[in-house]
Amino acid sequence: MDRKFNRTLVTCALPYANGPVHIGHLAGVYVPADIYVRYLRMKGEDVLFICGSDEHGVPITIKAKKQGCTPQDIVDKYHAIIKKSFYGLGINFDIYSRTSSETHAKNASAFFRKLYDEGKFIEKESEQYYDEEAKTFLADRYITGTCPKCGAEGAYGDQCEKCGSTLSPDELINPKSALSGSIPVKKKTKHWYLPLDKYEPWLKEWILDGHKEWRSNVYGQCKSWIDGGLQPRAVSRDLDWGVPVPVEGAEGKVLYVWFDAPIGYISNTQELLPQSWEKWWKSEDTKLVHFIGKDNIVFHCIVFPSMLKAEGSYILPDNVPANEFLNLEGDKISTSRNWAVWLNEYLEEFPGQEDVLRYVLCANAPETKDNDFTWKDFQARNNSELVAIFGNFVNRAVVLTHKYFGGKVPADLRHEPVDTEVLAQIPEFKKAIEENLENYKFREALKEAMNIARLGNKYLTDTEPWKVAKTDMDRTASILNVSLQICAALAVAFEPFLPFSAEKLRKILNVGIAAGYDHRTGEQGAVPTNLFRDGEAAALHTGAEPEGLCLTWAAFGQPELLPAGHQLGEAVLLFSKIEDSVIEAQVEKLKASKAANEAAAKAEEELSVAPQKPECSFEDFEKMDIRTATVLEAERVPKTDKLLKLTIDTGIDRRTIVSGIAEYYTPEQMLGQQICILANLAPRKIRGIESKGMILMARQSDGKMRFITPQEILANGAEIG
Ligand code: 2FM
Ligand code: ZN
Repeated sequence: MDRKFNRTLVTCALPYANGPVHIGHLAGVYVPADIYVRYLRMKGEDVLFICGSDEHGVPITIKAKKQGCTPQDIVDKYHAIIKKSFYGLGINFDIYSRTSSETHAKNASAFFRKLYDEGKFIEKESEQYYDEEAKTFLADRYITGTCPKCGAEGAYGDQCEKCGSTLSPDELINPKSALSGSIPVKKKTKHWYLPLDKYEPWLKEWILDGHKEWRSNVYGQCKSWIDGGLQPRAVSRDLDWGVPVPVEGAEGKVLYVWFDAPIGYISNTQELLPQSWEKWWKSEDTKLVHFIGKDNIVFHCIVFPSMLKAEGSYILPDNVPANEFLNLEGDKISTSRNWAVWLNEYLEEFPGQEDVLRYVLCANAPETKDNDFTWKDFQARNNSELVAIFGNFVNRAVVLTHKYFGGKVPADLRHEPVDTEVLAQIPEFKKAIEENLENYKFREALKEAMNIARLGNKYLTDTEPWKVAKTDMDRTASILNVSLQICAALAVAFEPFLPFSAEKLRKILNVGIAAGYDHRTGEQGAVPTNLFRDGEAAALHTGAEPEGLCLTWAAFGQPELLPAGHQLGEAVLLFSKIEDSVIEAQVEKLKASKAANEAAAKAEEELSVAPQKPECSFEDFEKMDIRTATVLEAERVPKTDKLLKLTIDTGIDRRTIVSGIAEYYTPEQMLGQQICILANLAPRKIRGIESKGMILMARQSDGKMRFITPQEILANGAEIG
């Protein structure tokens, strides 16, 4: 650790509790953060890992409205799903709390109030859209209209989902309230703003001069924001879901979700460590690291630090290793289009294969550019890397030891230069892993760890102990001793990356692991990394660590981690092959979701283009005499494609109606059908035939017409209305 720091506080972006977590979130934020934390714990460093659900904001209220429930119902549901799935993947936060907690409401409120009292905000009145029917100001998302850029209907006040343009509500053509459908009016409202412009000189110095080491994507985004000139940002909203603005006269206003959410990191720390949280947030010797996705950069590098600076007593992030985006099968991951691999579903569909996902997401992490996840690549990485290299090596070493030495680590009886060479490489790999992890290069670090397995696999293939055993048991003992030392190195090296497999490997080797730091007991160096402090989550994990021989990160790299005579555990397979059928099923699932989405989008589009007719009165409607009738005769009208001449029994009379349905029905199909007609339509002549009335037809979105028929046969002439 950097000398000036004595502890590390790691936060992960608080996911919105309006849907489950998907692989994009995991690859961008949570898997790398968990690797980093596990690594620090292995080194015995004092580290705290904080996360929780982001439960405020307009999208959650919209979802609740759509589903006819409260926002609290929505966040309760998804908070539980997200929390369970994180721990299910071994993302072991010290606490996973939520921004609807009481601690957070108090803390966020106090934070705002301090800045308010010290005059750090500016108050401004502005005109915003107001729905007079619903009696509420409208968040940008609650205003829809025609996109000024592409002409699509149903664009939102902040974005057009059709063309992707960022919009402001004022730009929408024919704006409408999504709440009542009424046309909103402009009304004055007061809000509080954080004057980011005032922090510009300081931000320039702190980031642009002081943090040149930040990832280039992060530094570049900050630079372009700062160079573009910062504007005051509203920190309150007219909304009834969120932390109320703690100022008199601010009824109906809440803190803007992006003001309260990052304060959630602090609230959650307070909730976990009510006595000692300040040490983590206010001591200069704490290293604060925010793991986030690239869409969160401005909030974590510019807005939140400015809030902390304005408050005055907090430390600032030392680094913000934001990742780019992960795509799925060549397409952008999208929650609303259900184009995603959801973590909760993955855990159900791939039980015991948590590490495969961790491996693939880290090996393919979008650290410097957007990357693509494909199920084929997932399968290939599992089958040809985890199974064929790592798993195969361990299995060969352990099975042979059981076969020739009763499962006891044999003494290294006849060492050769090849052994020394191989063992000498392990400290090199360790160093490379450490350097990469400390510089947030997780893909590279994983590659180096995998190189240890490659090394072992190659060593066994080159030395062929199964052949040597036929003639030379001393040499066989040495080869297997060296192989088992490599296995032990792997059990340590992979603990940050693949904790489930590392644990399995430790069972195979019959060793424990010592690492970590318990913030409640203050105990250091004796806490298995799979134990963590969130009570509920602990129940999800079963990994009891064996007593006896314990591996440590410190010892990793030494040539003899396992002493001769040490009894191994049972040989079980670390990884298993994933068959084509499994992958095909996942690809099919995605295809089905794409098809369902396209159909829904098309239907919505067609519905939205069907113009609604102007309002009519009940009296207007009453003028229409709609009745049931039966088709008695049907024939084509000569020399036309579209017309059928129908003779019908209306219950009042027998009459002729000429109808333009020949494209959709043959005369034979119409015979005997019970239909609905508008009986009192003024008669008119069509192709010389007097037509009295009209058959009621429904026009479908594809333009096809179908006649309307009663649910059961009724007497002809039954009145409809
Ligand atoms: O983008 C998001 O998913 C946000 N909910 C992240 C919030 S991070 C922090 F500020 F809480
Ligand atoms: Zn558009």
